[in-house]
Amino acid sequence: MNQATDLLHSPGPVEEGNPADDFRAFRRALGQFATGVTVIATSAGDEVVGMAANSFSTVSLDPPLVLWSIRKESRSVPAFLNNGHFSINVLGEDQMELSALFGRPQPDQFGQAKWSAGTHGDPLLEGAIAHFECVREAVVDGGDHHILIGRVERYARFEGAPLLFAQGQYGVPVAHPDATPAPTPQPAADTREAEESLFLSLLKAADNHMSALFQEQRQHVGVTVASGRILNRLFEGPCAPDVLELETFLGESAVDDALTELSQKGQAERLADGTWSLTDEGREVRAALRRSAEHFTHEQLRGIPTQDLATAERVLGTLLRRASGGQ
Ligand SMILES: Cc1cc2nc3c(=O)[nH]c(=O)nc-3n(C[C@H](O)[C@H](O)[C@H](O)COP(=O)(O)O)c2cc1C
Repeated sequence: MNQATDLLHSPGPVEEGNPADDFRAFRRALGQFATGVTVIATSAGDEVVGMAANSFSTVSLDPPLVLWSIRKESRSVPAFLNNGHFSINVLGEDQMELSALFGRPQPDQFGQAKWSAGTHGDPLLEGAIAHFECVREAVVDGGDHHILIGRVERYARFEGAPLLFAQGQYGVPVAHPDATPAPTPQPAADTREAEESLFLSLLKAADNHMSALFQEQRQHVGVTVASGRILNRLFEGPCAPDVLELETFLGESAVDDALTELSQKGQAERLADGTWSLTDEGREVRAALRRSAEHFTHEQLRGIPTQDLATAERVLGTLLRRASGGQ
């Protein structure tokens, strides 16, 4: 098949149009671009302010320039415009809570984080995988955002993998399955290290494969990853949007989108006190999702002897207990 025929057969866009007609749909298209997550901070005397930002981008190596953009309505605008310097903290994969902490207005954010002051007093967060200490080079008008360009005076890089953000959700970097083909099981290797790495590779490859397959199942029930998480959380009881954001680890826009979608479909409703609750229809969809997950699990595990399954569950349970500090 040549390229032109390929294009003819490729499915059309899920959504398209003029951004002015539907800002949510436009935002979803922008969310197809994956980024990392930073906390950008500035200080003047005792006052420190900071916010989560994924608009960070590199600009130039020589001179060393970076940029990011801040919503003009943000409470932090005066601080970033008045102070001529800021620090950029690139978050690591285990710092999702820090992103949530700095991703919405909350009192005493820096009292809840471990940090030290950089050259200009700007916060450098412990555990970040890179720090950039910048002086402001320029502010450019960017529609409803100010674009801040910074000149990097100092940087530091630490061991660790980045926290990712795409489609309104956090992620962790996993090597592309085609770049790391699933290993073919081999006879027991000589050394312990070799056996352990083989087991981990199998685990990762199986997870990649199962997640992709389950994604298809979810689509059959007509539920996105985000609305699935919201349905599951609201099944436990009514919840306010900002709490949903914290508990489902979805970005503000993803929660907003999912609630709009669920409400348009009659599956969730806003109560008088501002919290959201499932409707009877929402409870039915959640039950269908649960049945679909059970059916999927059953199908995937079909033919595997019960004893093998019990052993696998024991091993995975032990790994998880160890990961959470147990024995
Ligand atoms: C992952 C993530 C990325 C964000 N990126 C930006 C950004 O690039 N620019 C921005 O103005 N706000 C961004 N925000 C929202 C701000 O962090 C949030 O508005 C701010 O912390 C709250 O302060 P404010 O109400 O004064 O804006 C982001 C939030 C999250 C969770």
